[in-house]
Formats: sequence, structure tokens, C-alpha cells
Amino acid sequence: MTDWVQRWQDGKIGWHRDVVNSRLVEFIDCLKLQAGDSVFVPLCGKSQDMVYLLEQGFKVVGVEISQLAIEQFFEENQLRYSLKEVNSFSVYQAKNITLYCGDYFALKASDLKPISGAYDRASLIALPIDLRENYARHLYSIIPSGCRVLLLTLNYPQSQMSGPPYALSESEVVSLFSKGFECQQLQCFNDIKNEPKFQRADVDFIEKATYCLQKEK
Ligand SMILES: C[S@@+](CC[C@H](N)C(=O)[O-])C[C@H]1O[C@@H](n2cnc3c(N)ncnc32)[C@H](O)[C@@H]1O
Repeated sequence: MTDWVQRWQDGKIGWHRDVVNSRLVEFIDCLKLQAGDSVFVPLCGKSQDMVYLLEQGFKVVGVEISQLAIEQFFEENQLRYSLKEVNSFSVYQAKNITLYCGDYFALKASDLKPISGAYDRASLIALPIDLRENYARHLYSIIPSGCRVLLLTLNYPQSQMSGPPYALSESEVVSLFSKGFECQQLQCFNDIKNEPKFQRADVDFIEKATYCLQKEK
């Protein structure tokens, strides 16, 4: 059992928010989606951002290692689902949304087809440094050419607090996605005033950054 599965079982899901992420709402246009397009949400948890994407008329394909997270998502949002086993995944399906229960790194491009955009909030930054490059490489290998990714990250003095979430600077993001992606930072601001956990740890700042990536065509 992974640490993450245990966290879900223990209800230690401090990252989860009951409201839609304001940066998704502000920057969703960068994905240049059309009604009916599918959005990939890696390491999706039971994020309400998926409900927002559905409400905007998009389809959602997510992957999440915790079965509990996925079942809570469908139950809390009163969505009836069907379940089937495909390769190493349990695949939960409801109208316009498919959630793969299993390991992101085992997901194939053929599982996602066709997606037009991707949305990463608290996914890349959930992973320890040694998995980041694999995450970026794997993302490249499973999304189609030209696909845009809305990526939300955090940066703070890592020496002042341990992750997850792990700090990720702009230069680290640029370097991670330097092969095969165009990378543009859309916004970055210090939000320490709204982060009591980081204040309690005496962290000097916490920058919230938003990027639009595009896989090369
Ligand atoms: C910090 S949470 C973020 C969840 C979601 N993106 C959100 O914004 O609420 C990270 C999630 O990734 C899931 N996870 C971690 N490693 C994974 C993996 N290798 N494959 C699929 N899911 C994974 C965890 O169970 C957890 O729900």
C-alpha cells in the first residue's frame, strides 16, 4: 500500500478543497478548449475542479491511485458510475467522466485518447524530486502533440518546511519541461497571507505560480 492510499484511509487529505480552484477559472482559456473536448487530470484525487470542468461542457479523464478517493468523488457528487477492469486499472465511468484507478506511470496514451488539454493542480508538486523527471517524461509520452497543460505549482524555501507539497521554482519547471514542451509562466504571486500552515512553520514566502505548457506539434 502506498503512503497516498494510507493517507486517504486515514482522512489526511489536507490538500483537498471543497471549492473550485480560482486559478483554473482564471486561466482555463489558455487550454484553448472547445465544448465536448476531453481534459486529462493526472493524480486527480476527488478534486472539485473536475466538476467545474464538467460544468463547462468538457469531458474529464483522470487517474488516481486511491480507490477511496475515486469512490468518494462519485458518491459526494451524486454521480452514478459503472466499473470495469482494464489492464492494471479499475476504470470508473460516469457521464462524461472516466477515472482510472491505478498508477499514473502505468497509464498509456491509448487510455487517454483523445484528449485536448490537461490540468495539473497539486500533482507534480505532490511527487518527490526523484520522480519529477519521470512525471514530465511520462506526461510527454501520453498526451498528443500540440496538447496544452495548465500547471499550478508552489515555491517556498524547502529548507524551512518539508513536502509534500514540494517546492518547485520557475527555473526547475522550465528545465523539467525543456524537452518537448513550450513553457510560459502566466502568473506568480506570494500568497503567504492565505496559508496558515506555512505561516505556522515560519516559512518566509509561498509563491503560487501558473504555467501554460504546450507539447510540441
Ligand atoms: C496532493 S493530492 C492532489 C489531488 C488533486 N490533484 C487535487 O488537486 O485535489 C495528490 C494525489 O495523487 C495521488 N497519487 C499519488 N501518486 C500517484 C500515482 N503514482 N498514480 C496515481 N495517483 C497518485 C494521491 O493519492 C493523491 O490523491
